[in-house]
Amino acid sequence: MADFDNFKKNWLRPFLFYGNNRISLIGGALTTASALVLIGFWVVDILGHGGSENPYLGIIFDLILPGVFIFGLVLIPVGILWRRRHLKALGQVPSIYPEVNFSDPAFRHGIDFVVIATFINFVIVGTATYRGVAYMDTPNFCGQTCHVMAPEWGAYPVSTHAGVACTECHITAGLTGFVHAKVNGTKQLLMVAAHSYPTPIMAGDKLPPARETCLKCHNPNANIGDKFLVKTSYGDDEKNSVTKSIVIMHVGGRDQFGHLSGIHGAHMGHIEYIATDSNRQTIPWVGKTNDDGSVTEFVSSDAKGPITGPKRVMDCIDCHNRAAHSFDTPEEALNKDMAQGRPSASLPFVHKQGLVLMKASYASREEATAKITSSIENFYRSQYPAVWSGQRAQIDQAAKTLATIYDRNVFPFMKVTWGSHPNNLGHNDYPGCFRCHDGSHNTKTAKSITNDCSTCHNLVATDEPNPKQLADLGMQ
Ligand code: HEC
Ligand code: HEC
Ligand code: HEC
Ligand code: HEC
Ligand code: HEC
Repeated sequence: MADFDNFKKNWLRPFLFYGNNRISLIGGALTTASALVLIGFWVVDILGHGGSENPYLGIIFDLILPGVFIFGLVLIPVGILWRRRHLKALGQVPSIYPEVNFSDPAFRHGIDFVVIATFINFVIVGTATYRGVAYMDTPNFCGQTCHVMAPEWGAYPVSTHAGVACTECHITAGLTGFVHAKVNGTKQLLMVAAHSYPTPIMAGDKLPPARETCLKCHNPNANIGDKFLVKTSYGDDEKNSVTKSIVIMHVGGRDQFGHLSGIHGAHMGHIEYIATDSNRQTIPWVGKTNDDGSVTEFVSSDAKGPITGPKRVMDCIDCHNRAAHSFDTPEEALNKDMAQGRPSASLPFVHKQGLVLMKASYASREEATAKITSSIENFYRSQYPAVWSGQRAQIDQAAKTLATIYDRNVFPFMKVTWGSHPNNLGHNDYPGCFRCHDGSHNTKTAKSITNDCSTCHNLVATDEPNPKQLADLGMQ
């Protein structure tokens, strides 16, 4: 009891006496208000009602609110020291500090002030926080607010996963994922503010493993069997001659008897590899775990010296790395859009001209749109006056489509251009499957990872003008 009385006399009373000044009182009110908002958020978050998974909320709850809290705390001693100095200078320091007494008007005035200031601060801090959270939770926030996400945002709405939230694939479910994402989100926002983000932004090894993301929605054991693909291409001649390829992909999977087959069956869970670049394009070492537990090692004949680095077990993302934001090659994009009728294949040389214009380099997206439009108009006006006067609407549409394809794939300010983000599903435009299946990854006994075309697919028709098989199937 004596200790407590001493504490009251020597510490509490002087603290309250000097603390009764505007600066300290505002500090106390700020600290209380931000603490209340923070506690409210934690409660909502722990109970999981209306809690948000948005990674950038960290900026509010990990930086701004604690910042206000600490700022308030700092104001309290600053006010105390200031009042002490002020009273000392006036020679008004009391020999005995007044008792804590609720009937003392000066003390009551201080309490009233704190209560009112806390209330006002609470309303301000609470409203600002609520609005910030609501804003960061809009579906567009991740993709649009932050201009550095523009490339992924552009490719996303046209992908199969347009309806899947960014967080589904980029954040691991549960507390660790949440905390990790918030720390990362905050770091990234600071990088954007300081202009110290990399260009282009690459995924590297930052993505959670597929079992924590893709497999929430996809069954790894699905038996997909064969998949029928028809690819339409246009030529660089005046008529934009159309040809088709038919590929039957042996996707396979696991059948009802547990037997693994095809492309999916061959890799899942039993292939690991070492990549020597952050984009995982150069793979000198591959290991395959056999049924008896032994590991067959395949080493690239290009590899020099010992191969070291972390081993990664292949999962969905190693092949489907562009599931939600596939950037196209100019050829691929133009072929796809022309197959939908725009640009119209009736415009002479539109395929050839389109490719030349899209591949040219421009300082900005605005310049690209302007130059692509004027060049295509000039081309038809000077070379094909009849087309120019007769098919003006189609020429306009061609210019618009070319500019749109360019806009979806090239972002000069992020140094994202054709080919910056390789697609691993295939082997024609990027190394893809041939990072390993190139015929030169061998075991010690010179057995190589297969390069035989028919293991992966049947090429039913390759670049034929009118494949008979499509007609037989009634597909033309
Ligand atoms: C269906 C899953 C999925 C969804 C949905 C998704 N992403 Fe991705 N994202 C990926 C994968 C997989 C990669 C890794 C690509 C690689 O390794 O090449 C990636 C990579 C990225 C990268 C790194 C740069 C790049 O293009 O490789 C950024 C930035 C990104 N995503 C942003 C977003 C944004 C913003 C959204 C929402 C608008 C989003 N992602 C939605 C799966 C997804
Ligand atoms: C929130 C659920 C969800 C998540 C998470 C998800 N997907 Fe999908 N995915 C779908 C749906 C739904 C479809 C079917 C879309 C359709 O048929 O229009 C689909 C289609 C696909 C397809 C076939 C279409 C195509 O683009 O070739 C592939 C491949 C695919 N997903 C891979 C992935 C990969 C890889 C991941 C993880 C990086 C992933 N998905 C994460 C829901 C999801
Ligand atoms: C070794 C590479 C590879 C791996 C690993 C892989 N896939 Fe595939 N997957 C393919 C190929 C190739 C196709 C067929 C090509 C296409 O769809 O354009 C395909 C097709 C698909 C399809 C489309 C099926 C359809 O009917 O349209 C889905 C969905 C899919 N994969 C999901 C997954 C999921 C989920 C995983 C992880 C559990 C996975 N894939 C792992 C290569 C792979
Ligand atoms: C990281 C290296 C790697 C990548 C990338 C890779 N594979 Fe494989 N794949 C292997 C290994 C290793 C084997 C097993 C080879 C063996 O047993 O001889 C294999 C086996 C296969 C098999 C079975 C071969 C057989 O003889 O039955 C198919 C089919 C296959 N892969 C298709 C693909 C496709 C399609 C892609 C691209 C979408 C791809 N792979 C990408 C490493 C890879
Ligand atoms: C390791 C598996 C694998 C091997 C081996 C392989 N391919 Fe492919 N191939 C693929 C995949 C995956 C695709 C892309 C499917 C898609 O676009 O969805 C593809 C696509 C194609 C296409 C379609 C055209 C296009 O523009 O996409 C052609 C043509 C082709 N391959 C030819 C060949 C030839 C010729 C060989 C033999 C020298 C071969 N492939 C060997 C996996 C393989």
